[in-house]
Amino acid sequence: MTHAPQPTTRPALILPPFLWGSATAAAQVEGAAHEDGKEDSIWDAFARVPGAIANGDDLEVAVDHYHRTAGDVAIMSELGLDAYRFSTSWARIKPGDRDVNPAGLDFYSRLVDQLLDAGILPWLTLYHWDLPQALEEQGGWTNRDTALRFVDYAEATYEALGDRVQHWTTFNEPFCSSLLGYAVGVHAPGRRDEAAALAAIHHQHLAHGLATTRLRELGAEQIGITLNLTNAIPADPTDPADVDAARRVDGIMNRIFLEPIVLGAYPADVAHDLEGLGLDTLVHDGDLETISAPIDFLGVNHYHDDLVSGHPDDSGADGGHSGATEREAGSPWLASPDISFPSRGLPRTAMDWEVHPAGLRTLLVRLGREYPTLPPLYVTENGAAYDDVVAEDGRIHDVDRDAFIQDHIDQVELAIADGADVRGYFVWSLLDNFEWAYGYDKRFGIVRVDYDTQERTIKDSGLAYARRIAASRVVPAVAELP
Ligand code: FCB
Repeated sequence: MTHAPQPTTRPALILPPFLWGSATAAAQVEGAAHEDGKEDSIWDAFARVPGAIANGDDLEVAVDHYHRTAGDVAIMSELGLDAYRFSTSWARIKPGDRDVNPAGLDFYSRLVDQLLDAGILPWLTLYHWDLPQALEEQGGWTNRDTALRFVDYAEATYEALGDRVQHWTTFNEPFCSSLLGYAVGVHAPGRRDEAAALAAIHHQHLAHGLATTRLRELGAEQIGITLNLTNAIPADPTDPADVDAARRVDGIMNRIFLEPIVLGAYPADVAHDLEGLGLDTLVHDGDLETISAPIDFLGVNHYHDDLVSGHPDDSGADGGHSGATEREAGSPWLASPDISFPSRGLPRTAMDWEVHPAGLRTLLVRLGREYPTLPPLYVTENGAAYDDVVAEDGRIHDVDRDAFIQDHIDQVELAIADGADVRGYFVWSLLDNFEWAYGYDKRFGIVRVDYDTQERTIKDSGLAYARRIAASRVVPAVAELP
C-alpha cells in the first residue's frame, strides 16, 4: 500500500504561456557515479568495455553536476529559464534495483528545492537510458519483469518528489534505448539482436503505460513521454524502393512509438514487416490498453530529418548512429536491410547531422494533423554540437550553434502560427556533457564546461537564447498595440 505525499505549503508554479527551458540527463552530467550509494548503470558498465566509448571516456565525474547544482541553477536563473529538464538515475535511487537509497533521493530533492527557490519549473524524466546494471544482468529490457521494476522505481521517486514536481516524463527517446542499445549495439547495453530490440520496445512501452497509471493514482498532475521523431522523406517520391524505405523509417522511428500510446495499436504495416521477430508473443492481453493510458503532454526531441532511400548511398547521415568508435554496428531498421540517407547537400553539425530547421515546423504541424488526439507538444530537445573555440577574451563565439537554435525557434513559432499546439522549447543542452558513445568529444552545451577545471562559461549561443527569452516576455507598449 502506498501513500500519496502530503501537500506542502509551497505554492504551485503557474506556467507561463510558453515555457523556455534547457535539458540535461543524469548519466551525462551528474558524475558521482559511485558516490552516496549509487551503483553501476548500464552506461557505467558499457564505458568499461574496451572500444565502446570514444577515447575510453567514462561517466565517473562527467561535469560534476552532482556537486554543483547550486551554481548550475544560478546559471539557469541568469539565462532566464522557466524550466529545467533533468532526469533521475534509477541506479542512484534504487542501486542494484534493491532498496530505496535515501541519499540518492536527497540529491534530487535538494535540486528540486533549488529550482523552485529560483522560480524554475522542475521537468523530471524517469528514464534517460541508465538502467541499473543489475537489471541488465537479468535480461534488461528484454525481460518483461523490468517493466514492473520500473513502476516501483517511479513510485519511490514520486513519493519523495511528487509534492513539488508537477511534470513527470516516463521515458526519453525509447527509440535509442531499445534500438541503439539492443540492435545497433553502439549504446549500452551494446547488444546486436533484432528480436531483443523489439522486446525492449514493447517492454518500455509497457513500463510507460504501467507507470503512467500508477503516477496518476498517486496524484501526478502532468504525465508524458518524450519521443525523438523525424520526417522520413523519400529521396525520389516516384521510386517505389525509396517510398517503401521512407515508410519503414517512419514506421520504426515514429509510428511504432507513437501509435501504441496514442491509438492503442501497433501500426499494421510495421507489425507485418516484423512478423519474424515475435511481436505476437510479446504482446499480452490488455497490454495495449495499459500502454495507451491518457497522457498530458508529448515531448518531441528533434535534431534533423533526412531523405530516405531504398538504394545504397553513403552520402548523408548515418541513421544507425555508428561512427563514434570503431565498434561494429548493426542497424536500427529492423527487418529492413536496404535503408540509406542520401545527402541534400545541406550544412552539417559536428555529429554529421544535416541542418534543416524547416523540418521542425513540418514535424510539429504534421503531428497535430496526423494524430488529432495528441495532447499539447513540447520540444524537449533541440540543439547542435560544434567544435567550439575559446577566444582570447575567454568567450565562445559559437555562431553556428547560435544560428541553429535561433532558426529552430523561428520554426517553432511558424508551426504555432500554422496551428500546432506547442507549449515550450528546451535547448539541448544546458552544459557540455558526456555525449554517450562520443564521450566528451561532442559539445552540445549553451554553457561551456572546461573538463579540467569544471569551470562554466555561458557561450554566445546561451547569451542569445537568454535575450530571446527576455524579449518574449516584453509586454508591448500601448503605442505599439494594434
Ligand atoms: C538525444 C539524447 C540526448 C543527447 C542528444 C544529443 O538523442 O536524448 O541525451 O545525447 O541526443
